[in-house]
Amino acid sequence: MLLDAVLDALAIRADGFYVDATFGRGGHAAAILGRLGEKGRLLAIDRDPDASTAAASLFGGDPRATFTQARFSELSRLMAGRAADGILFDLGVSSPQLDDPRRGFSFLRDGPLDMRMDPRQGESASQWLARASEREIATVIGRYGEERHARRIARAIVAARTAAPVTTTGRLAAIIAAAAPGHEPGRHPATRSFQALRIHVNRELDEIERALPQAVKALAPDGRLVVISFHSLEDRIVKRFMRATSREAPRWAGLPDMPADARPKLTLVGRAIFADAAEIARNPRARSAVLRAARRVAP
Ligand SMILES: C[S@@+](CC[C@H](N)C(=O)[O-])C[C@H]1O[C@@H](n2cnc3c(N)ncnc32)[C@H](O)[C@@H]1O
Repeated sequence: MLLDAVLDALAIRADGFYVDATFGRGGHAAAILGRLGEKGRLLAIDRDPDASTAAASLFGGDPRATFTQARFSELSRLMAGRAADGILFDLGVSSPQLDDPRRGFSFLRDGPLDMRMDPRQGESASQWLARASEREIATVIGRYGEERHARRIARAIVAARTAAPVTTTGRLAAIIAAAAPGHEPGRHPATRSFQALRIHVNRELDEIERALPQAVKALAPDGRLVVISFHSLEDRIVKRFMRATSREAPRWAGLPDMPADARPKLTLVGRAIFADAAEIARNPRARSAVLRAARRVAP
């Protein structure tokens, strides 16, 4: 995904220390490792246990690379006081997660309605839908799916679950399609609701909000923060954070003797980069991807 742009934005030094906070199946991690020399180091993180298996086979015995299965909101703990020359977040779900029906993310393939990136933690989508109120369901689908038929869909889910618990992706997709059939050409009627449930189940936006300030703290002077977002809800958080962190704290603006914590911590690097037509043709999921980069200002 936007591979060259990512590598350029990270400004990789052969002997640097880099963090891939969203290892996935290791596409970016492999490319970063390819640019590191003997002294370079890579810490890869992902909350998905399948990523752990992929990392073991990709890294083999490479002494430069380590993988930790964790949430990226635990970044400060994982860094253990080290400073990184670059940190990459490639947000959202991976294609293998979406495509594997057993993970429960797909409305196109029937499977258990799970949607957890780490199935060992928290509540599955099915468990949540069994206990949430109609209003909560409507709020989640409206807010995280930006779905205008959220209330109608929530009502249909609650009606359906009184007959039998909603435990499969196929049944949920059918309930949604019946409640709000095909209002967007070329899009399955369940697209937005599935996105919303996935974001909610994995607390995705909260994870980003908690991780970004930790990433800034974890960067060495001149270190790069690079974030790829897949939809506007993520990008809004990233854009606002990077802008706010690259300005003086408003209450100190223009005043003398500004304390260190009120000074800008980041400088924006270039403009936002969007996937080009060739990238989108190769990977249609890249159509709403945005890459933003910033550089840590020396404290
Ligand atoms: C778009 S994929 C990354 C793909 C990866 N860059 C590659 O080249 O294969 C996003 C990955 O981030 C992971 N992820 C999402 N939120 C996370 C979080 N809060 N903590 C750790 N990993 C997370 C997902 O499990 C998924 O594997």
